[in-house]
Amino acid sequence: MLSFGCLDEKNLKKLAKIVAEELGEIKLLLLIGELGSGKTTFVRGFVTHFGLDESVVKSPTFSILNIYKGSKVIYHMDLYRVEQPDEEILMEIEEALEQNNTVLIIEWADRIENFWPEKFLKIKFDFCDEGRTVLIECFDEKLLEKISSRWFGGKKI
Ligand SMILES: Nc1ncnc2c1ncn2[C@@H]1O[C@H](COP(=O)(O)OP(=O)(O)O)[C@@H](O)[C@H]1O
Ligand SMILES: [Mg+2]
Repeated sequence: MLSFGCLDEKNLKKLAKIVAEELGEIKLLLLIGELGSGKTTFVRGFVTHFGLDESVVKSPTFSILNIYKGSKVIYHMDLYRVEQPDEEILMEIEEALEQNNTVLIIEWADRIENFWPEKFLKIKFDFCDEGRTVLIECFDEKLLEKISSRWFGGKKI
């Protein structure tokens, strides 16, 4: 697990871009945190690595799924309003994961349990005095090392 101290908005986006750069073959990111904790902001920084302007990112709270076509196709989902994920949503997720050249990034991913394939990055957001804290978990320790070494303030815990 990687833990990042209190990041302002600019640094949160910067971290998101580094995560995007280091992702390798991982194509699923699960974003967890309360309303306003920085999940959509993270996606804004994340898409810039794929040649997209952050302004393309709109919160999918009502649309549930937004798609941004950059050097990879970014599926941006928000499950906030989804109390019980239906077949259609689960199928959309599976289809996105089966395609090549896609990344699926899901806000409120904790709305769905016991479903995710093994290879994902889980990112938890919380509030702090002047910004947001970020915790990153991944099965791939080497990936965490890479992100950490790109980010000098990151502490391995
Ligand atoms: N690191 C940060 N520091 C301060 N404010 C932030 C930070 N990240 C996001 N915000 C602000 O918090 C608000 C909610 O952020 P958002 O990313 O939409 O949250 P979420 O998607 O988790 O509901 C936005 O107004 C955004 O500008
Ligand atoms: Mg959001």
